[in-house]
Amino acid sequence: ITAPAALFGTRANSKGLEFGDRKAVAAFIGERDGARLSGLEARPAKGFATAGRQDIRSPADGRVVGAVSPLTTDGAAALVAEAARHVRAAEAVPAATRAARLRRAAELMDERQGALLALLADEAGKTVEDALAELREAVDFCRFYADEAERLMGAPVPLPGPTGEENRLLYRSRGVALAISPWNFPLAIFIGQVAAAYAAGNVVLAKPAEQTPLIAALAVDLLHEAGVPKEHLFLAPGDGGVGAALVSHPATALVAFTGSTDTAFAINRALAARDAPIAPLIAETGGINAMIVDATALPEQVADDVVRSAFRSAGQRCSALRLLLVQEDVAERIVSMVEGAARELAIGAPRDLATDIGPVIDAEQAAMLRAHVDEMRKTQRVRFEAELSRGLPEEGHWIAPAIVELDRPQSLAREVFGPILHVATWKAGELAEVCDAVEATGYGLTLGIHSRIDSTIRAVSERLSVGNVYVNRNMIGAIVGSQPFGGSGLSGTGPKAGGPNYLARFCREQVVSTNT
Ligand code: SER
Repeated sequence: ITAPAALFGTRANSKGLEFGDRKAVAAFIGERDGARLSGLEARPAKGFATAGRQDIRSPADGRVVGAVSPLTTDGAAALVAEAARHVRAAEAVPAATRAARLRRAAELMDERQGALLALLADEAGKTVEDALAELREAVDFCRFYADEAERLMGAPVPLPGPTGEENRLLYRSRGVALAISPWNFPLAIFIGQVAAAYAAGNVVLAKPAEQTPLIAALAVDLLHEAGVPKEHLFLAPGDGGVGAALVSHPATALVAFTGSTDTAFAINRALAARDAPIAPLIAETGGINAMIVDATALPEQVADDVVRSAFRSAGQRCSALRLLLVQEDVAERIVSMVEGAARELAIGAPRDLATDIGPVIDAEQAAMLRAHVDEMRKTQRVRFEAELSRGLPEEGHWIAPAIVELDRPQSLAREVFGPILHVATWKAGELAEVCDAVEATGYGLTLGIHSRIDSTIRAVSERLSVGNVYVNRNMIGAIVGSQPFGGSGLSGTGPKAGGPNYLARFCREQVVSTNT
């Protein structure tokens, strides 16, 4: 399925996101690829036991988008054992060859963007704007890790030593690398993890989120077509039980995980319980991400950035703004502007060009979000809830963007993964307490600061141990290579995707010291 590149007008790095003619994009997706995408199926390679066949339905209207045949736990264990048989051959592939395959995959994604965009809309409920940004990020990841593989692994790194001794540092593969990816970026994060793991010379097991196996299957097919051998990259569809079987297998040498903090804890415990080689975990989880706004901030800019950071993508980004901490003097002005802008957001079908916010991913998430707002209604003040239009399909998982006013920042005690903004105010002179409250959440992913006082910006960003600080701008949509992304504490183990230190985490270092 090929979309004319001219229609989309996007190539090269996504820094200057040019979306081409968006109307044409939407028409193209709707009229051509939509019809041709039905009948997709995600399944593991032949010979590995699967457990029945389940429909995958669109979160927007319940329509069947395709089907998945998940692995059984025995099938998962057999898959790890099979992957382990190919570790030596995978490492023997030169870094330049692996890089060339990833660059070819990036080209193929460009060529097949119509199909990928359609599936992002249908399977994950992505709006056209979000789908385009995600596709560009996936392309960027492939090219970035291709370059990184050549930089790190192209040749041994000479290290100093006395005369007569040669020291060389080699980045070598770890073996079987397991990538467990989330439903909120089913293409970009999926491809990012897989590309990094493969670029580093590992045999990759790619376990997509249960909700989004189809786009993962399409991405794996595309990587195989780009030259990645089938025995060096395996799709491992399945639920949490399958994930646990893959993690627990002694041949799994590394786990890269993006998803909830609770699951990261569970993976950590499962790895620790193995009677097997110690395997590292690369985890990227969520956050109670705050934006601190003082009285010197530009209100219009703040309102725009808050709406984008909290509500776009239906708030289903780990980077999304959850907690707006605004100085009392300007709070009412800013929050009423945010409310006004939120009222204008169009909630509707992902493929509709007019849509700003699509559905949330599934019934479970929708129920959790509704329960949260109900709970907040009892103890805090729900200031605003958008109205959902009556025409929305009943089978869709629609959640109205909402603004909740908190009596104090601590009243938001956990990450709420959806379009719900929580607001608390602070008085002049209380900035230190505000920072303490953010630090006390234990998370450390993204932070927004809106201020025109340099010393405030510096003090806040130095005080807080977050991974990504965004100053006087929105706080979502990190760009590969420019804004390496990832946090610490409850938000992850630290490595930053799309950054210069990421690929090394997928490698094993070896030093060879030779008496010459
Ligand atoms: N990488 C995404 C962003 O920056 C979050 O998952 O928004």
